[in-house]
Amino acid sequence: MFTIYRIQSSIFHLLVRSLVLTCLVEIASSGFTSTFIRSQCPSTDIPLDSVEFAIPKGYNAPQQVHITQGDYDGRAVLVSWVTMVEPGSSEVLYGTLKDNYDLSAQGTFTNYTFYNYSSGYIHHCLLSGLEYNRKYYYKIGKGSSVREFWFITPPEVDIDAPYTFGIIGDLGQTYNSLSTLEHYMKSGGQTVLFVGDLSYADQYQYNDGSRWDSWGRLVERSTAYQPWIWSAGNHEIEYRPDLGEVFPFKAFLHRYATPHVASKSSSPLWYAVRRASAHIIVLSSYSPFVKYTPQWLWLLEELKQVDREKTPWLIVLMHAPLYNSNEAHYMEGESMRAAFEGWFVRLKVDVVFAGHVHAYERSYRISNINYNITSGTRYPLPDKSAPVYITVGDGGNQEGLASRFLDPQPEYSAFREASYGHSILELKNRTHAFYHWIRNDDGKSVPAEHVVFRNQYWASNGRRRRLRKNNLSHLMSQTASY
Ligand SMILES: *[C@@H]1O[C@H](CO)[C@@H](O)[C@H](O)[C@H]1NC(C)=O
Ligand SMILES: *[C@@H]1O[C@H](CO)[C@@H](O)[C@H](O)[C@H]1NC(C)=O
Ligand SMILES: *[C@@H]1O[C@H](CO)[C@@H](O)[C@H](O)[C@H]1NC(C)=O
Ligand SMILES: *[C@@H]1O[C@H](CO)[C@@H](O)[C@H](O)[C@H]1NC(C)=O
Ligand SMILES: *[C@@H]1O[C@H](CO)[C@@H](O)[C@H](O)[C@H]1NC(C)=O
Ligand SMILES: [Fe+2]
Repeated sequence: MFTIYRIQSSIFHLLVRSLVLTCLVEIASSGFTSTFIRSQCPSTDIPLDSVEFAIPKGYNAPQQVHITQGDYDGRAVLVSWVTMVEPGSSEVLYGTLKDNYDLSAQGTFTNYTFYNYSSGYIHHCLLSGLEYNRKYYYKIGKGSSVREFWFITPPEVDIDAPYTFGIIGDLGQTYNSLSTLEHYMKSGGQTVLFVGDLSYADQYQYNDGSRWDSWGRLVERSTAYQPWIWSAGNHEIEYRPDLGEVFPFKAFLHRYATPHVASKSSSPLWYAVRRASAHIIVLSSYSPFVKYTPQWLWLLEELKQVDREKTPWLIVLMHAPLYNSNEAHYMEGESMRAAFEGWFVRLKVDVVFAGHVHAYERSYRISNINYNITSGTRYPLPDKSAPVYITVGDGGNQEGLASRFLDPQPEYSAFREASYGHSILELKNRTHAFYHWIRNDDGKSVPAEHVVFRNQYWASNGRRRRLRKNNLSHLMSQTASY
């Protein structure tokens, strides 16, 4: 009896999944737990002397090159790199023709210590006033140690500007991490939305800073050529009073600059950028976010800047997921959910990406915003205005997979699988986006799920009329008492 039910149930799920291929994610039915069994690859870090971490040739050659968006709208790029022996130059030469670097920008450098580790010289240089949709070549370093790279600027912020984002989380530096990275580089993504937990250097004795350096060299193959939009995870905190290290996020903040000033944020840990047709909000799960804190006040102001007539796609990044049905880190996002879910639903956020849990999961459009301790519905319910919550903490770090899901699968969970991989979000126009999750299938890259997202603002005229541009009177009312 039970077995028969399970079979019928699987057939039903297959039907649901094929429906989901061509229509909305809004069908509220029970979800699908993939039965795909991963043959566990060893989840140990790549040895430091491996070719994957090769140090570029030449005296004091720039290494760990990475770029990120440098302003609010995509006309600036922040170039960062490390020199190990001496500071050297912080200048970037660049231009739109190869071998003709007619522009230059001067950056700055910084360094830090962590317990008995001393960092190299970490350079940050802003290239601003760039043209949209252009390929730029850039060059850093001196003499025989010069290194050359390129990047492509995004289209101008526009309601129908197509753009493809990759989503990667909890990457680390194992051979699984490398697979994820290599698969991502083949999937056509133009910018990475990184949902936290970068190097896992904190897993080493004394939080060995050289594992931050090796990670920077590992990911350079992608980060030197396209922006990675950074958000911080728990492995970036590195709070070690026993080592005399009491300044949280020390290595991350020195190494991974973000354009937080452009969105009037007081901290690099939370900020927003607009890119093509997307407004991307980056939150910090491990910084204060309750009412009246700097992050809460900033988010309230930033949400008022969102203009779906310019950027129809509203995307939020954070590390700890608000909805997750894995036994790992269950409910760790609950306090942030209590703080922000109401805003996400009222503003019709399209999708919330998180990491932290080392598995893949996608939710239905659900919300749980009606309970208030004494009464109200205390259960996530189907809600057409709610975001889809996607957990992509499956980059492949040394901690291995989180393979124990809650059983039975909660109704809010649409699809879940404990495998490594990454996601791709292709924004097509104001109404449609194609979303894929690509699994690392024992070394191969296998598209494992496809969903078409209809834009939360533009896909339904009726709903759009109810969400008038910049109508945040209800949000404003929340500030009345501080
Ligand atoms: C930074 O580098 C300078 C020059 O090498 C050195 O004197 C200083 O101690 C370093 N500072 C830190 C915090 O490591
Ligand atoms: C840091 O200290 C530990 C323990 O004293 C030692 O084993 C290690 O070699 C030191 N590392 C550096 C970079 O000095
Ligand atoms: C709590 O929720 C119930 C049911 O939705 C509602 O009647 C009540 O007014 C709410 N109480 C407060 C203090 O918001
Ligand atoms: C938006 O993109 C979808 C998917 O490519 C397409 O079917 C639809 O016709 C496009 N809409 C417009 C207005 O171009
Ligand atoms: C603003 O939004 C609220 C709640 O969604 C709605 O009741 C109100 O009519 C809207 N006001 C305008 C001017 O659109
Ligand atoms: Fe994490």
